[in-house]
Amino acid sequence: MTESSFISSTRDVPAVSGVPRHIAIIMDGNGRWARKRFLPRVAGHSRGVESVRSVIRACMERGVSYLTLFAFSSENWRRPADEVSFLMQLFMRSLQKEVDRLHDNGIRFRVIGDLSRFDPKLVDMIRRAEARTAANEKLTLTIAANYGGRWDILQAMTRMLAKHPERREGFTEEDLSGELSLNYGPEPDLFIRTGGEQRISNFLLWQLAYSELYFTDTLWPDFDVAALDEAIRSYQARERRFGRTSEQLRQAEGAVSPSSGHA
Ligand code: IPE
Ligand code: IPE
Ligand code: MG
Repeated sequence: MTESSFISSTRDVPAVSGVPRHIAIIMDGNGRWARKRFLPRVAGHSRGVESVRSVIRACMERGVSYLTLFAFSSENWRRPADEVSFLMQLFMRSLQKEVDRLHDNGIRFRVIGDLSRFDPKLVDMIRRAEARTAANEKLTLTIAANYGGRWDILQAMTRMLAKHPERREGFTEEDLSGELSLNYGPEPDLFIRTGGEQRISNFLLWQLAYSELYFTDTLWPDFDVAALDEAIRSYQARERRFGRTSEQLRQAEGAVSPSSGHA
């Protein structure tokens, strides 16, 4: 059994709240931020860690329950070896430095992705940080590292089939989604990508089915609390229909609060 079952946006209509329960972010634009300042690309990655810190804090203050950050994609191995190794070192250093603070703030820390290619020392640090913070409930912070949406669906399918070796058909969405690496959280309400590109880059392919997508030109190291609030405001102005009509939505709202007047 997975930790809990969450509403699937395609099988049911999830409840919508003003504050997104789960925000997922593609933190893009570090290299360009650095190049604009005639700095090496990796200076942008270092600076990006500060944005990570302030976004985590802001999410806690605003009552967001899940924050998922794309830190390294399965395709980022294609980058120059020295940039890849800098990113790994930065991940290790940041984790070392921040884990106490994460824990003190009631943050549950998780990493999703294929860790088999990582330095065993880093994997060990990750597993220890996850175990230490496992009971925290204020915010679940997930870092996607060597993560790819296709990898995730494939590994979930492999695990699903292994669990039911006799079955050939009749699988449900829940059979698969329960094996996805993010099976401990709801689907993202709000997806943010900084850095100007408007693509998913193999992030949470399954879970983004009905997420509200928000793209901003702001480069990740410049993405501050005001920028996060702007994204949340944009989210709050959306009508999340999940396939229904606006009229149906208004009727459903009227049923919940009859005193709110008629359309
Ligand atoms: C995102 O910034 C960080 C990672 C992918 C690790 P980039 O490094 O992709 O920055 P740009 O897109 O080249 O500016
Ligand atoms: C996506 O950014 C991955 C991360 C932010 C970790 P990329 O910079 O790798 O994406 P593409 O290559 O522009 O699609
Ligand atoms: Mg990029």
